[in-house]
Amino acid sequence: MIFSAIIVAAGSGTRAGGEKQWRTLGGKPVLRWSAQALVDAGAQELVVVVASDAQDRAAEVMDGLTGWRAVVGGTTRAESVRAGLAALTCPDDQPVLVHDAARPLLDAAVIARVVAALDQADGALPVLPVADSLRRGSDGLMAEAVDREDLWRAQTPQAFRRGLLESAYAAWNPTETPTDEAVVVRRHGGRIALVAGDARLMKLTYPEDFTMAEALLSQETR
Ligand code: CTP
Ligand code: MG
Repeated sequence: MIFSAIIVAAGSGTRAGGEKQWRTLGGKPVLRWSAQALVDAGAQELVVVVASDAQDRAAEVMDGLTGWRAVVGGTTRAESVRAGLAALTCPDDQPVLVHDAARPLLDAAVIARVVAALDQADGALPVLPVADSLRRGSDGLMAEAVDREDLWRAQTPQAFRRGLLESAYAAWNPTETPTDEAVVVRRHGGRIALVAGDARLMKLTYPEDFTMAEALLSQETR
């Protein structure tokens, strides 16, 4: 399996109370977990996108891993992804995985699924079904039920061939801020495969998410 990877870790973690990518979880820094998973899965190159004052920190966290480098991110996640893309050296047709540092519980099986999906599609998006029933409403009042059959919770890593991801970002309207790469590539006309995600691959967003992730990581053997 040949692929490159970008981990975006340049956010400020405001909702989590700050600095979530550098916090220790299950005995390792949050960023280390997914970096290790990508390197162990055979990433040919790994670009870690961090804030301008965090490059030394990245080097400490990545100690002992090879084939990676750090670049400085931007003020939005999309800008950070673009900074990571610009630093890649792989060929245009190489699969590139874009992953959130805030999702430490990255499993080899998900990596394999998104890379494999690129045989049939222009992009691969790991998703989970929506468990709860959904309602539309506002001002404290329910308006109507929303069918959840064709609704999905999007995760990372998302996979695309490098050349297509670059062209899609180049064509993106710069006044809009995309949610993620799948949105950018889809807008560009790409077919995005929905691939089975992983419930453990939760994103650390709020302080309480660390308690859940700590419990899940305590079962890890890595
Ligand atoms: N990210 C990034 N550059 C940004 C913003 C976000 O690299 N300018 C990264 C984060 O570090 C994280 C991932 O994108 O790994 C997902 O973003 P999110 O969970 O929103 O993290 P933060 O933006 O750091 O958190 P918050 O929105 O609460 O401030
Ligand atoms: Mg954010």
